[in-house]
Amino acid sequence: MSNKKVIVTGVGGQLGWSIKQLSGQYPTLDFVFTDVAEMDLTKQDSIKHFIQQNPPDYFIHCAAYTAVDKAETEKDLALAINATAVGTIAEECAKVDAKLIAISTDYVFDGNGTKPYLPYDETDPLNYYGYSKWLGEKAALESNPQTIIIRTSWVYCEHGSNFVKTMLRLMKERDELKVVDDQVGSPTYAPDLAKAILDIVIELENGNNHKGIYHFSNDGIISWFDFATAIKELSSLNCHVLPLPSAAYPTPAKRPAYSGLNKDSIQSDFHIQLKHWKLSLQVCLERLAP
Ligand SMILES: NC(=O)c1ccc[n+]([C@@H]2O[C@H](COP(=O)([O-])OP(=O)(O)OC[C@H]3O[C@@H](n4cnc5c(N)ncnc54)[C@H](OP(=O)(O)O)[C@@H]3O)[C@@H](O)[C@H]2O)c1
Repeated sequence: MSNKKVIVTGVGGQLGWSIKQLSGQYPTLDFVFTDVAEMDLTKQDSIKHFIQQNPPDYFIHCAAYTAVDKAETEKDLALAINATAVGTIAEECAKVDAKLIAISTDYVFDGNGTKPYLPYDETDPLNYYGYSKWLGEKAALESNPQTIIIRTSWVYCEHGSNFVKTMLRLMKERDELKVVDDQVGSPTYAPDLAKAILDIVIELENGNNHKGIYHFSNDGIISWFDFATAIKELSSLNCHVLPLPSAAYPTPAKRPAYSGLNKDSIQSDFHIQLKHWKLSLQVCLERLAP
């Protein structure tokens, strides 16, 4: 059987980069990694041309407009990248019978929940980024019946900008740091999600035909304060980390207070195993250590 072609977008970002790092472990898949230079998501023609020239068997869509606060003012750009482009990708994938795996966010929920959100729980995004991603989910599911949406949360890794790297920098610079303790959710180490996505591709190759919306993050639900405290302790830094109510740290975009995700279906349908957030954080910190 010949190898399958897999397009991955956003190779310069955390998740796309993590998939590229792992790609050598999947010898039956031929990868085509893209970023804005190869396929500009703000340009419909660029998307159509690229997919028509490189018809894939699988399309893993990691690229997105991810500047959550800026999205409140750059609404057209967020909409073009997170919604319109996803619809076009889904349509083009449908034409060549390619399966689409598109990544979405916990920010599609309003955060008023008290138990982990199920994939088909009611959505009600609090900010424009979440709204644009929700429109992207809808466009993908409507345009390509073979779509899998994977919602994730609090993504970090050694590459790119993220909470873990920002905390490490600030904790080295300052004696004291205040971090919000009334927003809870689950961190996701991008290489863990990357492995889950590639394992799902292999499952699909082997005849698994599940589709629809799924959730993935590391195991365990914590606050940003808990996360910062663990970063400090595992890195043996001396900075004093203090809890802060989010009311004292206003941001242009509202964040959900609760964004725990129920991940039962990705485990049962695709045989994905979850790692505890602290174990994965430790791996990342070891890889980041000089
Ligand atoms: N980061 C999080 O905490 C988080 C949480 C929940 C869900 N997610 C979702 O998870 C997925 C992966 O996120 P991530 O953290 O890997 O994002 P990221 O690190 O911000 O990377 C985003 C990627 O998208 C690319 N991109 C932006 N505009 C583009 C355009 N016009 N054309 C082509 N490519 C473009 C970026 O390229 P440039 O670098 O060249 O701009 C970058 O490679 C996204 O769907 C995101 O919405 C992320």
